[in-house]
Amino acid sequence: MQEVMRSQLKPEIQVFANPETLTQTAAAEFVRQADQAIQARGRFTIALSGGSTPKSLYALLATQPWRSRILWNQVHLFWGDERHVPPSDPSSNFRMTQERLLFQVPIPQENVHRIKAENPDAKVAAAEYEQNLKQFFELGEHQFPRFDLVLLGMGSNGHTASLFPGTDAVREQTRLVVASWIEELNSYRITLTPPVLNNAACVIFFVTGSEKATMLKTVLEGQYQPDRLPAQIIRPTQGKVVWMVDQAAASSLSPN
Ligand code: 6PG
Repeated sequence: MQEVMRSQLKPEIQVFANPETLTQTAAAEFVRQADQAIQARGRFTIALSGGSTPKSLYALLATQPWRSRILWNQVHLFWGDERHVPPSDPSSNFRMTQERLLFQVPIPQENVHRIKAENPDAKVAAAEYEQNLKQFFELGEHQFPRFDLVLLGMGSNGHTASLFPGTDAVREQTRLVVASWIEELNSYRITLTPPVLNNAACVIFFVTGSEKATMLKTVLEGQYQPDRLPAQIIRPTQGKVVWMVDQAAASSLSPN
């Protein structure tokens, strides 16, 4: 009980002068966590975020010295969510990662576990990814995968991964992966669910830019209302959550 209580205390917030210093620190943390996981368990499992914020991190990890500090043979990449589009689509999170990272590093193809969102039925794509997770993590009934690291962003409406305000996905407690119809996008999204994200050893949010400042304050300091602010639902039960934000995004936060 003590462990659960502790991890649900105020999350760790790291404020950086600008996105560049945030990205450098994030790359070092990625390498540190990869080393630690590979030494302890022979592999590093990570669920990547989509969107634009992590692009600079993925690009940095593909350059020296970071590129050669990572044992890519023992890194397994997953995605926290995906748009319901083929991998060749410009809006695909997988394509974004391919262009900035996967084409530049020697990660074995079998270590890249993308969501096959080209399936015309998003629900089938979600079910297939769920099966992949169960097989890879060798899960029994009612078990959830425990990622070493989950990277997340936060939208200006408080969503994270593809857990959008007012959707059933925010309250999902059984499934590992769901397809969620997002009215405001007029499209499906495929997303890991809260129990999977909250089972991670470490969750890192990347949030930059003044346009996120009001929502960041609301999520971190406002009333707990995850249906309206899905990013609030991320509270790892036996793990930690770190918010890595730049000064522009942190500009509305109360001083410590
Ligand atoms: C996606 C992401 C999504 C993203 C936020 C923030 O597929 O778009 O998973 O949750 O992290 O929307 O996006 P930006 O980083 O582009 O602001």
